[in-house]
Amino acid sequence: MTQKIIFSGIQPSGNLHIGNYIGAIRQWVKLQDQMTDRDGNELIFCIVDLHAITVYQEPKILREKIKEVAALYVACGIDPQKAHIFVQSENPDHSCLAWIFDCIIPLGWMKRMTQFKDKSATQKDSTTVGLFNYPALMAADILLYDTTHVPVGEDQRQHIELTRDIAERFNKIFSPTFSLPRPMIDKSAPRIMSLQSPRSKMSKSDKDPGGTVNLLDPPEEIRNKIRRAVTDSGKEIRVGADKPALTNLLTIYAKFSGKSVKEIELMYQGKGYADFKNDLAEVVIAALKPIQQKYQALRQDSAGLEKILDDGRNFAGGKSAKKTKQVRTAVGLGRYTTRK
Ligand code: TYM
Repeated sequence: MTQKIIFSGIQPSGNLHIGNYIGAIRQWVKLQDQMTDRDGNELIFCIVDLHAITVYQEPKILREKIKEVAALYVACGIDPQKAHIFVQSENPDHSCLAWIFDCIIPLGWMKRMTQFKDKSATQKDSTTVGLFNYPALMAADILLYDTTHVPVGEDQRQHIELTRDIAERFNKIFSPTFSLPRPMIDKSAPRIMSLQSPRSKMSKSDKDPGGTVNLLDPPEEIRNKIRRAVTDSGKEIRVGADKPALTNLLTIYAKFSGKSVKEIELMYQGKGYADFKNDLAEVVIAALKPIQQKYQALRQDSAGLEKILDDGRNFAGGKSAKKTKQVRTAVGLGRYTTRK
């Protein structure tokens, strides 16, 4: 087997929701459980707080959210004995490399990023340079660790393609330094959509809280949100291009129950939306219950959580320092040449 270095991250910019879980964290846990460290495999999961501040975050809340995300990673099944978990801003190599990338990325490449176009359209005058620059920092996160695979939701695909282009460009301009990472996207659930507007993705920054089921939502809230979820015209419970709301709800059902979409469609033949939604709510509540319980226990052990993040920071810093030296030498930065 060839070596796999898995890197991914989530912004602590709001409440983690079932889209983050299905699109990202669930894949991470699966990979972790499939991999051994025998072949030099590594799993690195970051809490990307520098990305979060591309949009204003209340400082006190941000600090809390960083710990919340770390505890949720573990509560969802990331094992700190097998994976390294760290906070992005605690390793300054990320912002240093992002700047170097800024100096080689053609402006046109960045202007093509659809996520920037979408986000900036909603922010208008308050759009920051940081938001524009966001994909360069993401490329730095990934390339600092010789990452081979990046498990993410479909919405991040374009950023990973850009990361590959940046790596190739750097290697060509200076010297071969970076390997090219590949995205890993769960084809059966590339994008979980909002419960209120099923043509837009479920998002931490959704203004309508009814569109998003958060991992830490209490059962009653989950029941309410699912009960109020919009449906499509007609009565049938099936997937289809003409049924975006049902397709989304069935995908969530399948992901949390372990059943296939086909099986679930058969179970609800001839039944109404109310039965389907009641059952879906209970499936989601049952799946989130152990995560919520583990989360509460972890938050009570703050020393334990600190240790996980300290160990993660030390590991990440050690690994990225080597790559940073290589980059500085390649570019000619500083007064000394450094050995690789
Ligand atoms: P973020 O914080 O927006 O989302 C974290 C992860 O969750 C996935 N995701 C979804 N998947 C399915 N359906 C959805 N509705 C949904 N919403 C979010 C995202 O695809 C992502 O995998 N730029 C990244 C964070 C980042 C990163 C990185 C990721 C920074 N550096 C390096 C990988 C590698 C982001 O904003 O994710």
